[in-house]
Amino acid sequence: MRAAVLEEFGQPLVLRDLAVADPGPHEVLLHTAAVGLCHSDLHYMQGMRKIPLPGVLGHEVSGVVAAVGAQVRDLQPGDHVVGALSVFCGMCHQCLGGRFALCMDTEVKQPPGQARRLAHGGRPVSQVFNLSGFAAQMLVHRNALVRIRKDMPLDRAALLGCAVITGTGAVFRNAQVPAGASVAVVGCGGVGLAAVNGAAIAGAARIVAIDNVPAKLALARRFGATETLLASEGDVVARVQELTQGGVEYSFECIGLPATLEQCFRMLQPGGTATIVGLFGPGVKASIEGSEFFLEKKIRGSALGSARIREDIPRLVELYLQGRLNLDDMVSRRIRLDDINEGFAAMARGEVARSVVVFDGVGA
Ligand SMILES: NC(=O)c1ccc[n+]([C@@H]2O[C@H](COP(=O)([O-])OP(=O)(O)OC[C@H]3O[C@@H](n4cnc5c(N)ncnc54)[C@H](O)[C@@H]3O)[C@@H](O)[C@H]2O)c1
Ligand SMILES: [Zn+2]
Ligand SMILES: [Zn+2]
Repeated sequence: MRAAVLEEFGQPLVLRDLAVADPGPHEVLLHTAAVGLCHSDLHYMQGMRKIPLPGVLGHEVSGVVAAVGAQVRDLQPGDHVVGALSVFCGMCHQCLGGRFALCMDTEVKQPPGQARRLAHGGRPVSQVFNLSGFAAQMLVHRNALVRIRKDMPLDRAALLGCAVITGTGAVFRNAQVPAGASVAVVGCGGVGLAAVNGAAIAGAARIVAIDNVPAKLALARRFGATETLLASEGDVVARVQELTQGGVEYSFECIGLPATLEQCFRMLQPGGTATIVGLFGPGVKASIEGSEFFLEKKIRGSALGSARIREDIPRLVELYLQGRLNLDDMVSRRIRLDDINEGFAAMARGEVARSVVVFDGVGA
């Protein structure tokens, strides 16, 4: 099957014909329907985090079940599914505590290089994020998948698996934004727009969207932003404080830069919470003014918005079908697998919310 393979860090992906294994007892083979291009993929392509190469990225996926392993009782061929990188075992300390996104069972959540599901010319190819969605087929653990309604469009469903579950989960599960709250979202790509949308669904009164690309700010209004700020025009923190009379109650960093992490902490009013969603390379540090902790400001991380995929993905599908979750405006471009490198170039230029690779005929 055709796949876009990362063979060298810093180089474009290369289209190859890969072999995919047969499903093991707890595995499911999928025809990939759609896969979104996430900035985390780009971080890995650029070598921010090293993985054994060659490898196949892509972790924002939807698909149609082609075959199931002998022990898979609750999925069957033809089912429509969303995949998420937070595959879980259901039995470890983290899973039993309800923190499925932090499952550390390496039999189920296999580090890149461990799984032997993909091969090229007889040599193993790393499965990254336990999914490897930049490919026409995927062989994955059953607990990476959630069945969805068949009337949910599969191209938009793919976005639920990363950007949307992360951005909305940061609001609903991590920060637990209450109705009437004031919120700022720094970075309005796929993840940040989903956070803006989540804040609107939660009933936040003020939602300040911040980005350094004007088109992203116009888009953020369609997701529920009440105010927008162009990051390049002056002091972001001072302007947020001025707009909100002393700072926001909740801020969300959706880029992955020390400077914007620091901004997110400083723009809080006393007692506020900054949720850091952006991904940082190993060793990257940010600086926080210690005296601000006396103001009971809080800062916290987020792994996929602490997703509980089997609860959250069907709920997000309902919210979309009711017209309350905006996925239509998040798909900026539908592209083919052959055009994936141009898709990442458009992301790097800040042009798109999301480009989504669609595979013809799957789920149609
Ligand atoms: N914690 C998690 O579980 C998780 C999950 C998914 C993605 N991520 C991370 O979240 C981040 C965002 O991902 P994405 O796919 O939305 O990325 P993206 O590239 O689509 O969006 C980033 C946005 O930030 C804006 N931006 C860049 N520099 C800026 C600056 N200095 N000031 C203001 N705006 C700026 C860009 O214009 C763009 O709109 C990435 O670091 C990604 O790796 C984390
Ligand atoms: Zn992602
Ligand atoms: Zn577990």
